[in-house]
Amino acid sequence: MVLQTAKQPTQIQPRFHGGKPQIAFNPVPSVQRSANITIGVSKSIPTDADCVGIPVSTDGTLPREPGIDRERMAASGFEAKPGQALVLPRPEGPTLIVFGIGNLAELDSATLRDAAAAFARAAGKHTRLAIMLSNSKLPPEIAAQVAVEGVLLAAYRYDALKRVPAATDLRAITVVTSAEREPGMKKGAERGRIFARAALLARDLANTPPAHLTAGKMVEVANIIAAENAFTTEVFDAEALEDLGCGGLLGVNRGSVEPPYMIKMTYAPRNGRAAAGRLTLVGKGVMYDSGGISLKPSDASHATMKLDMSGSAAVLAAMSALAALECTTEVTAYLVCTDNMPSGSALKLGDVLTIHGGKTVEVLNTDAEGRLIIADAMVLAAEKKPDAIVTIATLTGACLRALGRDLAGVLGNRQELVDQVFAAGRRTGEGVWQFPLHEPYRKELESEIADLKNIGGENAGTITAGLFLSEFVGDVPWAHIDIAGTANAETDDSWRSKGGTGFGTRLLTDLALNFKPLKAA
Ligand code: BES
Ligand code: ZN
Ligand code: MN
Repeated sequence: MVLQTAKQPTQIQPRFHGGKPQIAFNPVPSVQRSANITIGVSKSIPTDADCVGIPVSTDGTLPREPGIDRERMAASGFEAKPGQALVLPRPEGPTLIVFGIGNLAELDSATLRDAAAAFARAAGKHTRLAIMLSNSKLPPEIAAQVAVEGVLLAAYRYDALKRVPAATDLRAITVVTSAEREPGMKKGAERGRIFARAALLARDLANTPPAHLTAGKMVEVANIIAAENAFTTEVFDAEALEDLGCGGLLGVNRGSVEPPYMIKMTYAPRNGRAAAGRLTLVGKGVMYDSGGISLKPSDASHATMKLDMSGSAAVLAAMSALAALECTTEVTAYLVCTDNMPSGSALKLGDVLTIHGGKTVEVLNTDAEGRLIIADAMVLAAEKKPDAIVTIATLTGACLRALGRDLAGVLGNRQELVDQVFAAGRRTGEGVWQFPLHEPYRKELESEIADLKNIGGENAGTITAGLFLSEFVGDVPWAHIDIAGTANAETDDSWRSKGGTGFGTRLLTDLALNFKPLKAA
């Protein structure tokens, strides 16, 4: 049974646990909070600004405003390197903060975003920020966009469950620029607001505790996003998944008391415009990954597994931005949502699951669950013959080991599509690095009794996971982004705030906006 086609917003009800009422719970507080922030562009510093950020490069002329020379700044340890910021309190008027942007010739959008983030962090509790951007070499649209993103993303703090708010009560961000650059900056600042708001949504979802954000709750959030954007939505519950033969998702869900859901939503370009291409996004939504019977060890990494739905959060968040950005690509999303839990009914090692479409998979490690649930959605997506499928998932610890927390892995069956992911990563500062789909490793996935097994050998785990997924798209162009490392930040760093980073949200949004269907292979 298809549950519903969303047209009306659903109210999110507070949850109750063990008979004890919880505080009324809003799963996306930062999105609402961001609506109270005025974002503007002006030719002069607003009179009510309480903090002004002034970019300083390592070369070129020094701006006049701070009234201090390079030697005195250097004496305080400020060398104008990107990421550095120096607060210059004054007896009256707004606080001045100089922030480093490095060498002028090397200034790119990623550097300016990180620099703006450092400014926002240094601004502390100030609520009305102005940021001077009169003479950067970047196009005004880009400069304003990345500056607004940097400030909003750095000001983020997850405090939905604190009785006393912890995040800065940011009220205004004003980009101060020249008359000539003002119109472009206005466009860019608005884009920055939309991109950042989407990333905040993904972060809130990732940071929400697993009992508060079950697969069922994810459906409610998706319905709200769908209603706001007039998406067509289908929600497949356990019964519908049975009818479809989605054995991967149902199999992984078997140990959980929370029901599984697959959420499908489609954004179609407005104004009767013909779509410039058809792109499908698939996000892993493991609401909590205990490992199942192949239980994870009780170390700190286990405690981060509420973030195992970050792929689906990034997809949903990217979808939330498309209408406002007037995306001309038609985008379909699949969010594949379940817990991975051990129990008397859980998947056992040696069990064989039938993925939608009929391929059988022997499960030899229940902790390799992401690929099982994504496979169902990939086959469903491929049946519709979109121009491309992009999957995104916190898929392998091996990717975290190989690339760390700064770069996501990317693999794919068509280089032109992987290149589009690279380009989107460069524009958004969400960097990716490619792994090869190395065919000789394919034999590691051979099973004695089924078509495939769900794990390879002990090495090259990101590649064997990619090879596994590649079995489920046929010849549809496909790229996969592994965000196991980048989904989580251990400390506040540049635009990343500690915890869920929302990584992939801006990349996927940018990818959809710039998507070009591939030429026939
Ligand atoms: N969700 C994990 C991957 C992960 C690890 C995400 C660390 C974030 C940080 C995934 O489901 C998993 O457990 N993968 C296993 C696969 C293995 C059993 C083949 C892994 O990477 O260890
Ligand atoms: Zn997982
Ligand atoms: Mn796992």
